[in-house]
Amino acid sequence: MEVTKQIKKFFNKYNSKEKILVTGGLGYIGSHTVVELIEAGYEIFIVDNLVNSNIEVLNGIKEITGVKPVFENIDCTDYVAMDRFFSKHEGIKAIIHFAALKAVGESVENPLAYYRNNVISLVNVLELMPIHKVEGIVFSSSCTVYGQPDHSPVSEDTPLQKAVSPYGNTKQICEDIITDTVKANPNICSVMLRYFNPIGAHPSALIGELPNGVPSNLLPFISQTAAGIRKKLSVFGNDYNTPDGSCIRDYINVMDLADAHVAALRRILDHNVEGVEIYNVGTGKGLSVLEILSTFEKVNEVKVPCEIVGRRSGDIEQIWADPSKANKVLNWEAKVSLEDTLKSIWKWQLHLSENEENKEKVKGGVKMSSLLHGS
Ligand SMILES: NC(=O)c1ccc[n+]([C@@H]2O[C@H](COP(=O)([O-])OP(=O)(O)OC[C@H]3O[C@@H](n4cnc5c(N)ncnc54)[C@H](O)[C@@H]3O)[C@@H](O)[C@H]2O)c1
Repeated sequence: MEVTKQIKKFFNKYNSKEKILVTGGLGYIGSHTVVELIEAGYEIFIVDNLVNSNIEVLNGIKEITGVKPVFENIDCTDYVAMDRFFSKHEGIKAIIHFAALKAVGESVENPLAYYRNNVISLVNVLELMPIHKVEGIVFSSSCTVYGQPDHSPVSEDTPLQKAVSPYGNTKQICEDIITDTVKANPNICSVMLRYFNPIGAHPSALIGELPNGVPSNLLPFISQTAAGIRKKLSVFGNDYNTPDGSCIRDYINVMDLADAHVAALRRILDHNVEGVEIYNVGTGKGLSVLEILSTFEKVNEVKVPCEIVGRRSGDIEQIWADPSKANKVLNWEAKVSLEDTLKSIWKWQLHLSENEENKEKVKGGVKMSSLLHGS
């Protein structure tokens, strides 16, 4: 290793306050990652335009860590505002780029909003990196890039299929944009993390997933149904070619996922990433919708009324990760049990319901629907 790299590595190890920009840092995965980054000793700067998050999340982060990170309400598609941000906060060493729209169905209805938001945000950030001497970027990719694979588990070498939605296509396009950009610019590097299905909440129940409107993901729907906010859970199809007929996914605890970001970031800051690296972030275990449902009911001692309905278009039958590359190279593995993960979701749901009740009391019965929306 050349001497400058060795010096940088030594400096990084003993200078624990490296400055990191987290875009979309008040969102679901971003906020949990910010907590882990602060606890790992980084100085965090959050950029978020609150299009799918709430400023109260900042207080949750502060309560957990004792630190209120710098927050700027900026839209990443605004190049001038982002440029100003980097000039104001000099010395950002790396970026974790979460900011994106992520609802598959919405992306089918309004594809241009997805292409504009997800692609332009990334292009801006990539253009600004060399100008402001940012060394690397961790990018939120998704297992959606694999489409319906011929077999599972999928490894990073599994060929990608044509995306089934504009959202999925933005992830494929963004991966290509990063690859081309890093190839043309040896001063920056990237780690792209392909998440499987993130679930769970921080064990304190001070932050968690806050779906806007009717949740399209399984777990928020299950917990809201258990809490009586939804009448019943619809299970989309029980005639798939799986042991119990329902779809199979790889559910990864959000704190484990957050830790994968800390590991990826460390690898960037230690100058161990040459060009672009891609990692699957999953448990390596596929679980069916019905298995998740029955385990949720069992560990939380609640009932979740449900009905089997027809298949939902765009759903793939089954997919789970081969996470061995992340296990080996990032020295990362999923640790939290499914039981503890499902308990954390219920604890978070109870916290939300309690907050909602308190707010209603304070408001004299006026419903505050910003946190939870009725169906
Ligand atoms: N949650 C999942 O199931 C999942 C799975 C795979 C990949 N991902 C990806 O992970 C990332 C984070 O997902 P999440 O579940 O935390 O979503 P989220 O919606 O909770 O968080 C995204 C955050 O980005 C912000 N944002 C969006 N566009 C922005 C813009 N132009 N400028 C500034 N802020 C903007 C939103 O306000 C929100 O706070 C996304 O890129 C998503 O596509 C999520």
